[in-house]
Amino acid sequence: MSNPTLRIGLAGLGRLGRRYAENLARTVPRASLDAVCSPVDEEVAWARDTLGVSRHYSDYRAMLADPALDAVFLVTPTSLHAEQIEQALDAGKHVFCEKPLSLDLATCLHTVEHAKRYPQLRAMVGFVRHFDASYRDAKARIEAGGIGRPFMVYSQTADKLDPTGAFVKFAPTSGGLFLDCSVHDIDLARWLLGRPAVKRVYAIGTAAMYPELEPIGDIDNGAAVCEFVDGSMAMFYASRTQAHGHDTHTDIIGTAGKLSVGRNPRADRVEIADAYGVRSLSVPSFFERFEEAFQAQCVHFIDAVLDNKPFDLTLEDAAEATRIAVALRESRQSGKPIDL
Ligand code: NAI
Repeated sequence: MSNPTLRIGLAGLGRLGRRYAENLARTVPRASLDAVCSPVDEEVAWARDTLGVSRHYSDYRAMLADPALDAVFLVTPTSLHAEQIEQALDAGKHVFCEKPLSLDLATCLHTVEHAKRYPQLRAMVGFVRHFDASYRDAKARIEAGGIGRPFMVYSQTADKLDPTGAFVKFAPTSGGLFLDCSVHDIDLARWLLGRPAVKRVYAIGTAAMYPELEPIGDIDNGAAVCEFVDGSMAMFYASRTQAHGHDTHTDIIGTAGKLSVGRNPRADRVEIADAYGVRSLSVPSFFERFEEAFQAQCVHFIDAVLDNKPFDLTLEDAAEATRIAVALRESRQSGKPIDL
């Protein structure tokens, strides 16, 4: 094989970017993490000192000009994703980007069109749950007819309460609860139901614990329903305030059965019996729950690029997830259902 490894530059070394850096540098086969980019000196120094990454950039465009990179990974703030994807393609790089593609539909569609100019380059927005072994098993069972015709998905993304309220600071740039969290469930519902076209959505929500979210148009708990044109349905719940842990799970109901993925968010197989009863500890955050899936997602991208295989996810899927999430936010804010 002429190109046994993909030479990668990673932009964004924050909460999640560091995890990507560790995976790409240490565990993902056929990945060579050759450069990193962050405007924060300490983040770059961490990658140099901890992972031995040899080339460092504070400016994203300067990294794109590095001729010895084949691809970039973007784990940058959501507001930068679409433009940075387009810039990467213009610079002749394949590009992987964390979700969501953008906070608004017009920008998503612009990027989808832009990518068509470069058929020789590959671009993917990652929705990590596609690469979780349990979700993949559920998808395979559905495709094998195991639950008959699937017609209903219930899916939730519920974060453990961070008592520091750090997410309130992040809220104005996140696109809000539905765009930041439910976008995963929207993408899952479309995937598991066979990508039906969406017909109508309705959403409600509350700032149950953080009323300071209200003036910026956001909530800390929200619920939504979504109708598809083929008659299938989805229900979503998102929360930032769970007391027990990160509780993300999905049910898929069909004419001949039901599949549940991750219903019990326990951290391990230990059951504690003591004066408080019988219990398990919960997974604390998305990362512990989806640690292996984040690696599998990198493997999927790299194998697809190097071996010229299709991605499981398209940029159009990412744009559609943003379209539905924006409609949920608008429905919640207006109090009205939205026809799409
Ligand atoms: P963060 O704020 O902790 O990190 C952002 C990083 O981007 C920082 O290293 C910052 O220095 C860097 N940065 C800012 N401007 C830059 C620029 N112009 N060029 C290069 N680097 C720049 O954010 P976090 O939590 O790591 O999230 C990053 C992305 O990952 C978000 O889009 C978020 O939606 C996504 N995410 C996805 C999750 C999932 O479950 N799939 C979970 C958490 C985050």
